[in-house]
Amino acid sequence: MSADRRKILVTSALPYANGSLHMGHLVEYLQTDIWVRFQKLRGHDCIYVCASDTHGTPIMIKANELGESPESLVERVSAEFARDFADFGVDFDNFYTTHSPENEQLTVELYEALREKGDIYTKSIEQAYDEKKGMFLPDRYVRGTCPVCGAEDQYGDACENCHSTYTPADLIDPVSVVSGTTPVTRESEHYFFRLSDYEDRLKAWMASAKLDRAVVAKLDEWFEAGLQDWDISRDAPYFGFRIPGTDDKYFYVWLDAPVGYPASFMNLCARRDDLDFDEYWKPGHDTEVYHFIGKDIMYFHTLFWPAVLEGAGWRTPTSVFAHGFLTVNGQKMSKSRGTFITARTYLDNLDPNYLRYYYAAKLGPTIEDIDLNLEDFVARVNSDLVGKLVNIASRCAGFIGKRFDGKLADSLADPALFDEVAAASERIAGHYEQREYSKAMRLVMGLADKANRYIDEHKPWVMIKDESQQDAVQAVCTQGLNLFRSLMIYLAPVLPDVADRARSFLGEAEWHWENASTPLLGATINKFQPLLTRVEADKVNTMVEQSKESLAAEPAAEADDDTISIDDFMKVDLRVAKIAAADPVEGADKLLKLTLDLGDSTRQVFAGIKAAYDPATLVDRHVVVVANLAPRKMRFGVSEGMVLAAGPGGEDIFLLSPDDGAEAGMRVK
Ligand code: 2FM
Ligand code: ZN
Repeated sequence: MSADRRKILVTSALPYANGSLHMGHLVEYLQTDIWVRFQKLRGHDCIYVCASDTHGTPIMIKANELGESPESLVERVSAEFARDFADFGVDFDNFYTTHSPENEQLTVELYEALREKGDIYTKSIEQAYDEKKGMFLPDRYVRGTCPVCGAEDQYGDACENCHSTYTPADLIDPVSVVSGTTPVTRESEHYFFRLSDYEDRLKAWMASAKLDRAVVAKLDEWFEAGLQDWDISRDAPYFGFRIPGTDDKYFYVWLDAPVGYPASFMNLCARRDDLDFDEYWKPGHDTEVYHFIGKDIMYFHTLFWPAVLEGAGWRTPTSVFAHGFLTVNGQKMSKSRGTFITARTYLDNLDPNYLRYYYAAKLGPTIEDIDLNLEDFVARVNSDLVGKLVNIASRCAGFIGKRFDGKLADSLADPALFDEVAAASERIAGHYEQREYSKAMRLVMGLADKANRYIDEHKPWVMIKDESQQDAVQAVCTQGLNLFRSLMIYLAPVLPDVADRARSFLGEAEWHWENASTPLLGATINKFQPLLTRVEADKVNTMVEQSKESLAAEPAAEADDDTISIDDFMKVDLRVAKIAAADPVEGADKLLKLTLDLGDSTRQVFAGIKAAYDPATLVDRHVVVVANLAPRKMRFGVSEGMVLAAGPGGEDIFLLSPDDGAEAGMRVK
């Protein structure tokens, strides 16, 4: 093996096996699959594992409602996942399940290691209990009237109307979602993991993991708020793994879910002689482990999971790559608008390569959300893939096939242009490596424009009419096809089956990244077959209509509108405040304590802006503040409002300042 051949293990978050995959899920699986394919094309040993996430109350209850066992439900849903993934070209080395012997073995092993170190303790806690069903209820399974604002039918942990947080016991007229009866409060002993002891070790891991800035900012916030110990047990009945030494306690699904990563890998190791489990999961080996996740599950992957691994003496992840959410046509996916599109409904109507390219053209390495705008999707795919990329080949292939018996010329007509495309190789590779796919796609499409311009300028369809120009036609078309070939190799991670078809057309057995830098000359190529057809807008419309129809029958339509009304907005009391004092906060790396003069009152507000502002420069500045935000208790005191700022975080935070002449207390609206 060459010295620079890396050994990389990659995972995507395990999909929860209680529903179908949809366009939102696919952002992550396609993002990861592209990265893995890129690494493989570069010649690295890259293994991609995943599994169905199968345990927990929602699956137990759903199976119950459907009158089947949780085992059969998760098996059915997992088989559906596997089909959808395969049809989208998501090429796992192993797709397994968390309901597996390997997962139980490893979960118990990690737990025992933590227990032996003294990192597990038990404590009695009170919880809502459904006497009719004989089960403890997670907070989300209790609904009732908000004790703060009186809004009806709110979850047991938070009010969607006034955003207060509380426990199910605080709800007025609480009802169990499972049985419709009134829950009682009952005590039970739970097992806790001492996460609070891990702050220093997690900070050290965070520094080594080269996390995205926004992820670091989120972690800093959590550190500032103080790490709480983690309740890792649930009472029977529960679909999961029983905690050793107990009769009726189970591991909380979020404990065994990430163990599904090594468990899936262990299952793969059993059939692959070349893989060694310890090399990837125990410290001291020259291997890399990366978790691709959505931004909603960062807490689990950047706090709980590394702490569990570290505590048990395993290796920690090399890094965690978080992405943002998907919006469709600028809004949250909606069943009523037909934009909650399942993977299968998409596949029933459209070629998966379109979506793979569209997401790649939008994706960067940050947690920013991406938008699938359906009109733009049609226009972009048709313009870039069909109009630019495939067009290069289709304009040259016919002449080589019909006039030259499929034989390419022995030399290039314009080696400098080929070299220009070859020279982009490392820049494009760098973009893939950094998950800057949109930059990679832009670069490739810029080169495709040049290739098309080259063909436009030489016009082989005119040259062919001149008997003396025959060799030149062969050279020009060989040039065009070679430009196409290099670009297709660059795009192979994104468009694997288009690349496969292109490779077969060019008569080559395999492609590696470096092949893009050497032209294919003198070879005999095959008959050109269409590589990709245009997206038809009608098909997109049909897909949206089917998404409305197929889901219309589902009972609980979700609250799918995340916009707020002007009335909601008017509730926000924005005021100009003058910063009377700005002080560092002892023990807090990022926070400043601001004393704000609002004209009629003074407030204390903690703001995470220390990296961006020297406190001395802030005194007497005017800023915009949300004056009617509920006070929030933090580790360092109570914060009585919020100072508005913009920017991605870290040193790039810009306080919103009103124009000169502002006076403290002025209302902003
Ligand atoms: O958020 C989810 O859908 C979880 N099923 C992801 C689990 S990822 C890993 F930790 F298992
Ligand atoms: Zn409320």
